[in-house]
This record gives sequence, structure tokens and C-alpha cells, in this order.
Amino acid sequence: MTHIAMFSAQPYDRRFFEAANARHGFQIGYHEVALNAESAVLAHGADGVCAFVNDTLDATVLAALAAQGVGFVAMRCAGFNNVDIEAAARLGIAVVRVPAYSPEAVAEHALALLLTLNRRTHRAYNRVREGNFMLEGLLGMTLHGKTVGLIGTGRIGLATARIFAGLGCRLLGEDRYPSEAFTTLGGEYVSRRRLLAESDVISLHCPLTDDTRYLIDAEALATMKPGALLLNTSRGALIDTRAVIDALKARRLGGLAIDVYEQETSLFFRDHSGDIIDDDVFQRLVTFPNVLITGHQGFFTQEALAEIAEVTLGNVACLQRGAPCANRVDD
Ligand code: NAI
Repeated sequence: MTHIAMFSAQPYDRRFFEAANARHGFQIGYHEVALNAESAVLAHGADGVCAFVNDTLDATVLAALAAQGVGFVAMRCAGFNNVDIEAAARLGIAVVRVPAYSPEAVAEHALALLLTLNRRTHRAYNRVREGNFMLEGLLGMTLHGKTVGLIGTGRIGLATARIFAGLGCRLLGEDRYPSEAFTTLGGEYVSRRRLLAESDVISLHCPLTDDTRYLIDAEALATMKPGALLLNTSRGALIDTRAVIDALKARRLGGLAIDVYEQETSLFFRDHSGDIIDDDVFQRLVTFPNVLITGHQGFFTQEALAEIAEVTLGNVACLQRGAPCANRVDD
């Protein structure tokens, strides 16, 4: 029987994977701890591991897994920037992922972030509960007719574009591989410089690669329209957080809403409410009234979790049969 060691497993992972596993009958060991050099030993006896966005799968960890007989890594997410693909190939470890599970789930979260940030509903909620009905500080802009710039118009970028088209926004896009679906929606592909300069709202939907790391840096922020809002539901390191803090302090950037953070590995998916958080950059961010942060929950809908579990276990079944697997990322 195929034995899978799952890392960073939360109660909801177990729930959705147990349901999907009824069809496969794999033996799944659920470990709450994140995968790293110390915890890799928990994969002892497993044929493969199932990992998530903040697990470490660098060359050292992969070598430790391979030494224990691990033959595959099944990522239960779309991004795989945390996996050293070359090392995996060298060690003979197959890597599979879930390329698309409800892109609308992430797109809808980007919308939730924007509407909250723009109309300050998070602040209004608290005020009203305190009996404070003042409107000062809650002023937003009408999104209809505003320009939204999308960096990355793949599955999630396109789903986001559809939503903003519905709001009556003008759409600008930047992508190496322009999509006809985006232009059919009325979107216009422009240079990054034009996108930054003309957009009232900028939303990031490209993967994290060497090319895209810190694509929003001090220079990009200086190019942006004063007062523009920046959304990031993709990967934290697309943004140079320190440069963003400077732009917020200078009152140039109008607001920031993020579901991802470059140093999220040591914070997200855990309860730190009783801890002193050592990350001063993160702590500075939360002090701004025009910054909204969620802890990587863009994917977190029932439909997406069911799809992730189905596809992940389907990928494992495919590898076990020795059949070609379309979701391999190491080919
Ligand atoms: P996708 O692969 O369908 O689309 C990514 C697009 O970015 C592609 O069209 C690609 O050509 C484009 N791109 C690549 N490099 C670029 C560059 N330098 N400049 C501009 N565009 C570039 O991926 P998908 O499914 O839309 O996901 C996007 C990202 O969203 C993922 O890489 C992942 O990091 C993130 N994500 C976040 C989740 C969350 O819960 N917050 C959940 C799922 C994904």
C-alpha cells in the first residue's frame, strides 16, 4: 500500500483528504509540523510526501527524503517556488502539483481585499460595534470606471479580470504570453511602466521566479500613480516590503492589501496570538490604517479544498501506475 507523509497538515486538510482517499485507500500520515531539515525524518517509511506552500523542499531536505526512500513529492498547491526542482530530478524524486483549483477562489479573495481596503469595511465593522457611527476615515473611491492593472493574466489573473470587467473597470495587463480571453474582455496589454503609471489598482497574479522577485520595488512604487492601491494574492516576495513601507510612510501608496508576505513561513497558518512577533517589518505593516493583511487564505474555499485533495491523490495514483502525469513539474 502506498504510504504518504503529509506535512503542515491542518484539521481541514485531513477532512478533505480523508474524503478523497475513500476512492484510493492510500495510507496517509498527517503531520502538523512543517517539512524542513529537522522534520524530514517523519517521512521514514513513506513512499512520498505531500507538502504545502511554506514547507521547505531545498536540496538538503530532498536529499534527506531520498535517503529514506521517498520517491515523490505531491504539492497540494499551484506554486512550487519552494521546491528545488533540479535537486529533485537529480535525486530521482518526481514532483507533482495542482496547477488549477478554483482560480475563482483566489480571484474572489482579491476582490474581497480590494473592497475592504477601499471602503474600509473592516474599520466600519469595529466602529459600529463600539457605537461609533462617524464616517471620517472611511472614504473610498468608486471603482466603476477606474483602471485596474493585472501583472500576470494566467488562470487567476483572468478570473480576476472577469470580476473587474463586471465592476465596469478599465483593464490593463502585462504578461509574456498574452491571452486572447483577456483582450476579449476589453483588456489591453501594455508595458509594465504604463501599467504602473496608469492604474488606480494594481493586482499581482504572476508566479514567483528569479525574474519576478521584488518586481514591486522602490522604482516601481515611484512609477505608480500617487494614491494607487496595491493587491498581492500571489507570492510575498513579488513585493519589496521595506520599499512598500517607505511608500506608505511617504503617503504615495494609497493602500496595500496582501494575502501573502515574503517572510510568511515563520508566521502564517499558526496561532501566534500569545507570542511576541519578532518580525519588525511585519509589525510595522500592521500599524498602517491603510494596510490589510490576510494569512494566505485565497485558496480557502470548500470547492478549492475538495479539488486540491482530489487532484493531489489523483496525481499520486498516476505516479504509482507509472502513467504519464500531466501535473508533473520536473519533466
Ligand atoms: P498561471 O500559471 O495560470 O498564470 C501565471 C501567469 O503569469 C502566466 O500567464 C505567466 O505567463 C505570467 N507570468 C510569468 N512571469 C511573468 C512576468 N515576469 N511578468 C508578467 N507575467 C508573468 O498561474 P495562476 O494559477 O494564475 O497562479 C498565479 C499565482 O498565484 C501562483 O504562481 C501562485 O503563486 C499564486 N497563488 C496564490 C494562492 C493563494 O491562496 N493566495 C493560491 C493559488 C495560487
